[in-house]
Amino acid sequence: MCGIVGYTGKRPVVDILLDGLEQLEYRGYDSSGVALKCSESIKVYKAEGKLKNLREELAPHAYELTKSTSGIGHIRWATHGSPTVVNAHPHTCNCGNLVIVHNGIIENYKELRAELEAKGCKFKSQTDTETVAHLVASIYGEVRNLTKAVQLATKKLEGAYALCIMHNDEPGVIVATKRNAPLIIGVGENEFYIASDVPAFIKHTKKAIYLNDNQVATVTPDALKLEDENGMIISPKVEQLPWEPVALSKMGYKHFMLKEIHEQPDVIRNILVGKLHTSDTPIVLDEVKLTKQTLKDLNRIQIIACGTSLHAAMVGKYIIEGFCGIPVDVEASSEYIYRKTVTDAHTLVIGVSQSGETADTLTAIKQSKSRGSHILIITNRPDSAMAREADSLVPVSAGIEVSVAATKSYVAQLTSFYLLALYMAEVKGTMEQAELTALKAEMLILPQKIEQILAHKDEIQRCARKYSNTRDFIYIARGINYPTALEGALKLKEISYINATGYPAGELKHGPIAMLDETMPVLSILMKGSVYEKLLSNSEEAKARNARMVALTNSTDPKLDDLFDFIIRVPEVNELLSPIIAVIPLQLIAYYIAEFLGKDVDQPRNLAKSVTVE
Ligand code: G6P
Repeated sequence: MCGIVGYTGKRPVVDILLDGLEQLEYRGYDSSGVALKCSESIKVYKAEGKLKNLREELAPHAYELTKSTSGIGHIRWATHGSPTVVNAHPHTCNCGNLVIVHNGIIENYKELRAELEAKGCKFKSQTDTETVAHLVASIYGEVRNLTKAVQLATKKLEGAYALCIMHNDEPGVIVATKRNAPLIIGVGENEFYIASDVPAFIKHTKKAIYLNDNQVATVTPDALKLEDENGMIISPKVEQLPWEPVALSKMGYKHFMLKEIHEQPDVIRNILVGKLHTSDTPIVLDEVKLTKQTLKDLNRIQIIACGTSLHAAMVGKYIIEGFCGIPVDVEASSEYIYRKTVTDAHTLVIGVSQSGETADTLTAIKQSKSRGSHILIITNRPDSAMAREADSLVPVSAGIEVSVAATKSYVAQLTSFYLLALYMAEVKGTMEQAELTALKAEMLILPQKIEQILAHKDEIQRCARKYSNTRDFIYIARGINYPTALEGALKLKEISYINATGYPAGELKHGPIAMLDETMPVLSILMKGSVYEKLLSNSEEAKARNARMVALTNSTDPKLDDLFDFIIRVPEVNELLSPIIAVIPLQLIAYYIAEFLGKDVDQPRNLAKSVTVE
């Protein structure tokens, strides 16, 4: 959340910064800005809203700015202060000689601000970041060395930060440092890049240095110096990035989200390659470093995640408990980290994260690691901070997901959970061979089943149109599809801003039923299996209160025709695998409703794809 880009070298900096920021738009898009070292001074340009507004702001100055070859840029997701030009980064000290961009939250900014105001600093914005600008500048006044000033200033900061800082008296110098927020240095020929994430510079260089917490890097076009917070020199570890620049294209689809929904059959196929060969051969998960003995010694599993990943985790609990007989707890990372959690060497802790850098999940992982638990990470970013903490790493290989609303990364996480649960069941010998074989056989044909759903998307689009004028939407399910109800509701909320809620259907009569009347759509995820009849009764109860009933089902039972106003049919599927099938129409319903309402589907308001603040 918030993206940082910096460059110092011999080439004009403006386009390098703007192109880099465009690659980081997934981290926030409510305002943006750049600071450019020009001959006499550092010039700052900012704009509210999307990056195109900053491009427009800079366009009239294009010629005069071509001489500038060092600068820093920022794309913001507001935490402190509304998304206005004044609050946009870069921030400056009073004289404008020092500029700073920041990702994270400075928790003690109020105290620091009061001290700095008492010394005469005049604040312009409501941000926590401006405090750091004044703090570093005031120390710079004494030490006259930017690196030293940053080292001294960061000792006073509490919270999380990735920072890039320039001073007008040190042309070509950028100082970068971080704590609990990502920052990577791209190493070029007589040039350095600094960014929150690799896509910002991958088209220029594949050599990179991942900064560790509290390290301070000072870059000029010709040199990089890496130190710890006390000035001790550290030898930088330059890594070769296994990345190719990707030209992000919608491939003819109207939005990235629709394209990504359509990629899901191939995502599953890619994950299964090398891991699940046939229904008769054991699952291969070389990435899992749990020995047979450690697996047997485990007495509990905790899965921690946020957002859509939390819903994948809930399905994970259902199948790991069902297949392996190990008790599993699932918890939102933000709740996990502020209580006394019981975890030890006999606990397996699984972190699930598309981005691998969600602040709450990362903190939770670090906490449980310090207590001796084996850490298994399921992530789409094997190069992320979370992956670096992992004892076992299960990459979900969904490819880059551009749309802020997660779709293919969710299905990829689910697929990885099935592989993991089946693998553990095989090692522990907790499942009947026949059941294992049947599930594996069906996993191999899931991609075709999703393709069948996508081939009939017009029907789902019709359903979406019919319900697009609603203000509220209720999703009900039971058992393994309760998380699917939550995920379907979350998708709709995220991109259409309709108030959608998922409930375990048995809970309907304990309160939510009071909201039902002829205006309320209730979508029932009615998959054949152990809870089908129970859910049918719950749907009857909703119908009796005149709710507008929609079914998502793989049943051909004719009595559904009387009960439901609209029926979306999906292919037959084993109940245990049905969350992968059932979520696809829900993603499409959310997509088509948002599209019909004219919403910004790929970049919904107030959201970011990567949440690096707690
Ligand atoms: C944000 C994104 C969600 C995502 C959640 C967790 O809120 O908008 O799509 O599910 O973060 O992110 P993670 O990267 O940890 O899966």
